[in-house]
Amino acid sequence: MEIEVLGKLLSTLPADDDHPYRTGPWRPQTTEWKADDLTVVSGEIPADLDGVYLRNTENPLHPAIKNYHPFDGDAMIHVVGFRDGKAFYRNRFVRTDGMLAEYEAQRPLWAGASEMPEWAQREDGWGARRRMKDASSTDVVVHRGTALSSFWMCGDLYRIDPYSAATLGKEDWNGAFPYHLGVSAHPKVDDRTGELLFFNYSKEAPYMKYGVVDADNNLAHYVDIPLPGPRLPHDMAFTENYAILNDLPLFWDEELLKRGVHHPRFHRGMPARFGVIPRRGQSSDIRWFEADPTYVLHFANAYEDGEEIVLEGFYQGEPEPKADGIADKWQRAFRFLALDHMQSRLHRWRFNLRTGQTREESLTDQITEFGMINGAHAGVRHRYVYATSGVDGWFLLNGVVKHDTETGVEESFRFGDGVFGSEASMAPRIGSTDEDDGYLITLTTDMNDDASYCVVFDAKRVSDGPVCTLQLPERISSGTHSTWAAGSELRRWRNVDNAAQAVGL
Ligand SMILES: [Fe+2]
Repeated sequence: MEIEVLGKLLSTLPADDDHPYRTGPWRPQTTEWKADDLTVVSGEIPADLDGVYLRNTENPLHPAIKNYHPFDGDAMIHVVGFRDGKAFYRNRFVRTDGMLAEYEAQRPLWAGASEMPEWAQREDGWGARRRMKDASSTDVVVHRGTALSSFWMCGDLYRIDPYSAATLGKEDWNGAFPYHLGVSAHPKVDDRTGELLFFNYSKEAPYMKYGVVDADNNLAHYVDIPLPGPRLPHDMAFTENYAILNDLPLFWDEELLKRGVHHPRFHRGMPARFGVIPRRGQSSDIRWFEADPTYVLHFANAYEDGEEIVLEGFYQGEPEPKADGIADKWQRAFRFLALDHMQSRLHRWRFNLRTGQTREESLTDQITEFGMINGAHAGVRHRYVYATSGVDGWFLLNGVVKHDTETGVEESFRFGDGVFGSEASMAPRIGSTDEDDGYLITLTTDMNDDASYCVVFDAKRVSDGPVCTLQLPERISSGTHSTWAAGSELRRWRNVDNAAQAVGL
């Protein structure tokens, strides 16, 4: 492995930090690395694995004003690129406006998710709540060959070089980017049409907007989605002809909100509502379907099946977990982040466009989340969902689970005690035809070895364990959202002799 340190940033976190989401497997990094020809610890790098795995990470440089929440952390993008049986690694902080301002001040300036907005030391800021730092540390997608990082509560999209992880600036969609409201956590890329679909939300009517960016990067469609009040949607889905938005009964307590307190509450008596809108439809075209009350953090996919829209995602049995009985103060404080407390399970909703009726069913007993599919099936029928299992009580992912949504068969692999992974992206093998003909890729944080690895599974045989394990330069922080971009989607990838040269450009 050829290693070079590209940079080291100053951190003002306390040396005796005791916050569980800034220590242990969540200990942030400060070093930016360039590593070529990664050391293969076991197995062999598949020669037909070609492209980049990108992962965003909440990696704070400064403490919070008072109460740190892991969603507040500065963004670090990790890249592992595969080509010709070799792999490279890069990691860089995303240079957001907020990150740069705090770096200059060497202290936190904005209030985080567990803090009151008026604690912010700046009047400006981002997020549906306002006066937050846009950390851009939530998701990363690739649109038109450029990676885009996003912030969970709406913010800018930062353009990231998918080879080097360098920040290239903000996405502006040829001048039409909705800077006032931003874009929510999970913009969706449809590789079939080259479009990017997104929504945003705010505390002012109509409370949500939905948009489509076309293959030429123009904001081609942007409409109001009127909701009954401020909501906290996190994800959306799409089919060939429709987008699916949501109005779920977990949202800020309305009485507390009048006093400036942003406290999410599950309204058990209210139905979940899913809004189906033609992809270029108007506000008046949206059709709402009611379903059992729940909250859904992430959807796996949606598709059309005759007169029905089929949606798969993770139904939460307990969107507002009770604090009673949780002895550990940190587990109690962050119970909303533990998959077992939320009881999240893969679920299928069917919305009948003719009758307006909803049918729904649980697809498994197993608690999982962060479901990924083969990207070639986005918006069309899929069979497999690759999800992750979680450590009881904590926001830590301890294994991968392949759900066969046709047969109900599940295959699992647990990383082992003290080893934590991230969302596992599916990388189709070059020339693949089967949906599961490819690889599952994740990054691990291994507390036993004090090291991190990029772990590659054969997507057809997940329970057999990794086919390849690669060493990263140092132990990285635990993280979640990731994406895969095939080399064929990336500019320059095929115009140079090797991947290292592509990165150097
Ligand atoms: Fe998310």
